[in-house]
Amino acid sequence: MQAALRDLLARRRVGYALEQPFYSDPEIFRADMENIFYRDWLYAIPACELEKAGSFVTHQVGDYGVILVRGADGAIRAFHNTCRHRGSILCKAAKGNAPKLVCPYHQWTYELDGRLLWARDMGADFDASAHGLKPVACRELAGLVYICLSDNPPDFDSFANLARPYLAPHDLSAAKVSYSSSIIENGNWKLVWENNRECYHCGGNHPALCRTFPDDPTVTGIEEGEAPPHLMQHFQRCEAAGIKATFHIADSGQYRLARMPLKVGAKSYTMDGGIAVTRRLGRVPFDDAGSLLKFHYPTTWNHFLPDHSITFRVTPVTPTTTEVRTTWLVHKDAVEGRDYDLKRLTEVWIATNDEDRRVVEDNQRGINSPAYEPGPYSAVQESGVIQFVNWYCTTMASRLEPVAMAAE
Ligand code: FES
Ligand SMILES: [Fe+2]
Repeated sequence: MQAALRDLLARRRVGYALEQPFYSDPEIFRADMENIFYRDWLYAIPACELEKAGSFVTHQVGDYGVILVRGADGAIRAFHNTCRHRGSILCKAAKGNAPKLVCPYHQWTYELDGRLLWARDMGADFDASAHGLKPVACRELAGLVYICLSDNPPDFDSFANLARPYLAPHDLSAAKVSYSSSIIENGNWKLVWENNRECYHCGGNHPALCRTFPDDPTVTGIEEGEAPPHLMQHFQRCEAAGIKATFHIADSGQYRLARMPLKVGAKSYTMDGGIAVTRRLGRVPFDDAGSLLKFHYPTTWNHFLPDHSITFRVTPVTPTTTEVRTTWLVHKDAVEGRDYDLKRLTEVWIATNDEDRRVVEDNQRGINSPAYEPGPYSAVQESGVIQFVNWYCTTMASRLEPVAMAAE
């Protein structure tokens, strides 16, 4: 498979959509999981989703089940969701709260920090300290929890150090989850991303979002250092007021941050463009600061607004199904019905997600045809898609095993 994948990558036409196998072939899907999702840092949850000691959520990434749990010391840790006795899944619920983690099979009992506390009748020689839960690398960045399934995680600090000052004014440590939705899109995870990285489709598909989000290709696709004057002005205004805004993209292309203006007069993603939550989350000094857009491949794009924040998490399920989980964060003291109306807060992105699901599914169905032939991306409108696909292909090529040299 490595050879076939290498050939497909080598003959790729830059600036064109990928060939069909990239979007449907089970072997390429496996390669995506093994070389990208099992190796890179993945956004998991907002930290506030684990409200107190013992709060846990489970998360499935390909073959790996993961438990994220807040310990008695307040720290969030992640563990493989497999018991150290005979391997049973440990936490079956999607979320919950438990003083200890108890295996449903023979009740081996683990502390919230993963140590094995109790195992019945294992004999005098049994070493409990050698049977703690296997940890998953876990980092909290300004209220966002990332995990990495690799035993040798890549650098996280470069991303964290860049992102921290952008995120700081949004003060996610004071947030709570007001709503979350999980949808399954019948499309390959790369189609979900390709769709996200352009707004060429917005005018024709997103009537609610287009009330506030500018249908301006420079918002999704600019390159480092080349922002047009109206964006430079916006960046300077925000930074003069103490909030990081300037566009930055990693050399690798894996992540980007930029605070982009919404349409003139728009303040938040609502049907009338007004604020959605009167009890603000964060300390953004003016209402028309736009949205801090952050993406980090392969799992997350986000919108951080002056009144609330929204995180998105992308998880491949099969070659042609992808889960998209969206979480709306508001100030922990904001009261539904008084400080915000849940429908007003969520309706634009619930509609937008559903519209995106439909276009992604339509895209997948068309690609499944034997007559499908990769077409060209618009350099004007789809430079963000070109950037994503280049990142994917470069990353994948760099991680395939080197070609074995024939013996002399
Ligand atoms: S498999 Fe977990 S206690 Fe036996
Ligand atoms: Fe969209």
